[in-house]
Amino acid sequence: MEKVILTGDRPTGNLHVGHYVGSLKRRVELQNSGEYDKIFIMIADAQALTDNADNPEKVRQNIMQVALDYLSCGIDPNKSIIFIQSQVPELCELSFYYMNLVTVSRLQRNPTVKSEIQMRNFETSIPVGFFTYPISQASDITAFKATTVPVGEDQLPMIEQTKEIVRRFNMIYEDTLIEPEALLPDNKACLRLPGTDGKAKMSKSLNNCIYLSDSSEDVKRGIMSMYTDPNHIRVEDPGQVEGNCVFTYLDAFCKPEHFGKYLPDYQSLQELKDHYTRGGLGDVKIKKFLIKIMEEELEPIRARRKGYEENIEFVYQMLKEGSEKARAVAAETLKDVKKAMKINYFEDGEFLEEQISRYRK
Ligand code: TRP
Repeated sequence: MEKVILTGDRPTGNLHVGHYVGSLKRRVELQNSGEYDKIFIMIADAQALTDNADNPEKVRQNIMQVALDYLSCGIDPNKSIIFIQSQVPELCELSFYYMNLVTVSRLQRNPTVKSEIQMRNFETSIPVGFFTYPISQASDITAFKATTVPVGEDQLPMIEQTKEIVRRFNMIYEDTLIEPEALLPDNKACLRLPGTDGKAKMSKSLNNCIYLSDSSEDVKRGIMSMYTDPNHIRVEDPGQVEGNCVFTYLDAFCKPEHFGKYLPDYQSLQELKDHYTRGGLGDVKIKKFLIKIMEEELEPIRARRKGYEENIEFVYQMLKEGSEKARAVAAETLKDVKKAMKINYFEDGEFLEEQISRYRK
């Protein structure tokens, strides 16, 4: 069986380092591993509109922003197909049929949808489109016969929902769709990187994000203001590592070789943590270490972004061609789906023959 990746992001803002460690970095590794036959990366504008219906300009402006984020992280358009969800109308058609396979109560139980409804204060005025987006996400995944969906932990309920739809479809109709598997980051700190203020969620409105497009100065400022241990007041005080943002980020970004390069007094992150816990290690020192590590990771991304920003026509063309390629693949799947559902009346001569013999007297 072919190994196919599909994943994507809603274009509602610049991507930040949480997206990077949680999924972008992994995508680039998977892309370069050569283990996958096809890789699709989708800019989920239609999904973004499910809770931004009144803000089309925001979605429009973030298409290019997210495309630049992808390319600057090392997604290579020669190896991965980057496309825009709304330009593949076959996805809507699939969703319409999948809707028959999902109950309202099943959607109501989806933990991600539940918490997102709360977060957005929808209360009783939930847009139907938003409520049903797990179904549309199942279309995104199955349209490309994806076997692997690299995502953050928050997306697991979506993959679960997709699997259920696939099983139901294959059982009722014909074996047509592929059951996908989620692929989570293997580093626990990368599952959900907190904001610089220590809050669980990074969000623009909280002003606690480090963006991939941030300048060197912005990154420094963000790290220097990071939440650490509020009881670690003097350098000599014992400090707490758990819940300390700097250490969470170090868990996500630090590699053994960084010590030799930037902090030769220590051999490992554990040794650094032990010293902090005992007392005698100041916040500024660990923050400066983190700045060096993050700069090492972010600087090449910035440089690549600059190159692409100077060549927006190329990015535009890449998105257009990617969307065309994706559409062709989704159209094939839709054909299979319609055949399995017996609504392929004009695809072959079968329907005509069947009806002729039925009505022939
Ligand atoms: N829900 C994802 C997010 O909020 C975006 C997305 C849409 C997606 N369709 C998908 C992710 C299909 C993986 C597979 O980031």
